[in-house]
Amino acid sequence: MEELILKAQNISRDYAIGRRKVRALEPVDVEVDAGQFWVVTGPSGSGKTTLLNLLSGFDRPTDGIVEFRGTSLASLSDFKVAQLRNESFGFIHQTPHLMSHKTVLENVALPFLYGAWIGSTKVYQRSCEMLEYVGMLELQNRYPATLSGGEMQRVVFARALVRDPEVIFADEPTGSLDADNSGRILKLLRQQSELGRSVIMVSHDADAVKYGSYRLSLFKSKNAVVGAI
Ligand SMILES: Nc1ncnc2c1ncn2[C@@H]1O[C@H](COP(=O)(O)OP(=O)(O)O)[C@@H](O)[C@H]1O
Ligand SMILES: [Mg+2]
Repeated sequence: MEELILKAQNISRDYAIGRRKVRALEPVDVEVDAGQFWVVTGPSGSGKTTLLNLLSGFDRPTDGIVEFRGTSLASLSDFKVAQLRNESFGFIHQTPHLMSHKTVLENVALPFLYGAWIGSTKVYQRSCEMLEYVGMLELQNRYPATLSGGEMQRVVFARALVRDPEVIFADEPTGSLDADNSGRILKLLRQQSELGRSVIMVSHDADAVKYGSYRLSLFKSKNAVVGAI
């Protein structure tokens, strides 16, 4: 049975620049079920990052509704949305952002600093488990500056998974990686969708699109189009 996780109904986003209105995202309708791997494509400036920000509650649409498990994000306080982002969503960006003065393990455990308290043994176990999953357990005591770009992105991946999220948002996650490291990240994302998580990934790369199951194509000055891959 399909389980609806995220639903966007006719969402768009305008920005006011002085008196001018700039449309950052043309209307989008999309329904994301558990275990689906969505790839968002479109030219630069078509609103891909804006869309991810709206679906993940980081930004609010000018028009339309975003629902997570049937609850409109607009009905939630900023605090509740922040809690939802921390506990139910994982994030991977093009450039891996890690805290430079914290070790690999401490970076992965960071999401546990916020929200409901969890015993430190459990935090340690879960963080190590995720580092092992991405093949980085042996480097747990290293500092980010001593890692390669591919290794950093795997640490970010482990951090994105550490709170057992329902949705993984990835904005051009392979944009700064070579082919080997890209393939590794894409395989992990596909595996996560097979495990039942929803994945929403922005990508320019035709090879990366193949890893997904559904495609959402964005355009400038035209509504988005949905299709199977
Ligand atoms: N905070 C903002 N203020 C004004 N315009 C913005 C803002 N964020 C994005 N935009 C504009 O919205 C459009 C879509 O941006 P973005 O979602 O970053 O596109 P993409 O990720 O597809 O390259 C661009 O024209 C961009 O300049
Ligand atoms: Mg972008």
